[in-house]
Amino acid sequence: MTKITAAITAVGKYLPEYVLSNAILETMVDTNDEWIVSRTGIKERRILKGEGKGSSYMAIKAANDLIQKSKVDPKEIDLVIVATATPDMQAASTAAYTATEIGATNAFSFDLISACSSFLYAMSTASSYIETGKYKKILLIGSDKNSSMIDYTDRATCIIFGDGAGAVLFEPNTEGLGLQDEVLQTDGTGREFLQVAAGGSQLPASLETLKNGQHYVHQDGRTVFKYAVSKMAEVTEKVLSRNNLTKESIDWLAAHQANKRIIDATGRRIGLNEKQIMLNIEKYGNTTSATLPLLLNDYEKVLKKGDKIIFAAFGGGFSWGAIYLTWAYNTN
Ligand code: UT7
Repeated sequence: MTKITAAITAVGKYLPEYVLSNAILETMVDTNDEWIVSRTGIKERRILKGEGKGSSYMAIKAANDLIQKSKVDPKEIDLVIVATATPDMQAASTAAYTATEIGATNAFSFDLISACSSFLYAMSTASSYIETGKYKKILLIGSDKNSSMIDYTDRATCIIFGDGAGAVLFEPNTEGLGLQDEVLQTDGTGREFLQVAAGGSQLPASLETLKNGQHYVHQDGRTVFKYAVSKMAEVTEKVLSRNNLTKESIDWLAAHQANKRIIDATGRRIGLNEKQIMLNIEKYGNTTSATLPLLLNDYEKVLKKGDKIIFAAFGGGFSWGAIYLTWAYNTN
């Protein structure tokens, strides 16, 4: 019997209209365009404005973009996964609402939450479901409204994060294309360095936590930076060597867009040249679960069937990993 692999067959995206530029940030906190660009590579990010709009708002838009482009019938979708660090609500699944709103009424759905590694881990999950042969169409959406947990008086975090969503469709492939291998890891000792302390079960929201700003993202940027570079390079090298891939044979590195210096340093450690590295952090900042699918959307036109892509991510937890995937289609 032919082995079933799980391939990405379509992509979609949504970015909120409002552009928060470095120039605007200069009016909000003690920072400047030169510092932000040289330390992070970010020029602007998008922010979702409007009462009552959560991550599902962007997830639905990205999913509908994919549906409209690929002409997939939402009723044929078996599973909808929403990868997110900012679900709409604590107890109600964001994916369930999203699936219903896009007309995926025959699908089951769930959220997958693992900070900035959410989408990477969900790629592994979606692929595993496809490889069983039981599910044929899995819609994976990465959506984060980071602005809902950012303190816009804290210059250490507000310059980095943005909002956005990206979607991909996974389907079975019999040519051997799609997800080939993965190395996924976590280390819980890292959680003190990057977290939103309050609002969960350990420290429920209260007037006290609100007063202390514990519902905002706090990070020890330097520590996260150091770990991100060494861990993303380590797992990428492991995936390369396990699959007998040389650095020259890789077409693309699609790395989580948290800081251009992290991406550049990871690329340098592996020995990749600039042309092999996907980048869009300049336009969107760190959109957490949306960075990887937004890269695929922005590069879709230049991707060719058979291209070898290494995905890598690092985030809170700590959680990180690398996935090796071959691209399954040509556009036009
Ligand atoms: O998605 C995964 C989660 N997050 C990450 O991956 C983030 C990883 N970390 C980073 O990207 C970087 O550490 C940051 C961008 C957060 C910070 O850059 P850095 O080069 O590590 O700066 P730093 O924290 O070492 O600070 C250097 C200086 C400090 O001033 P002094 O003490 O040297 O006088 C900061 O106070 O830069 C100052 N600074 C700023 N200056 C202007 C910090 N933030 C800003 C700012 N504008 N926005």
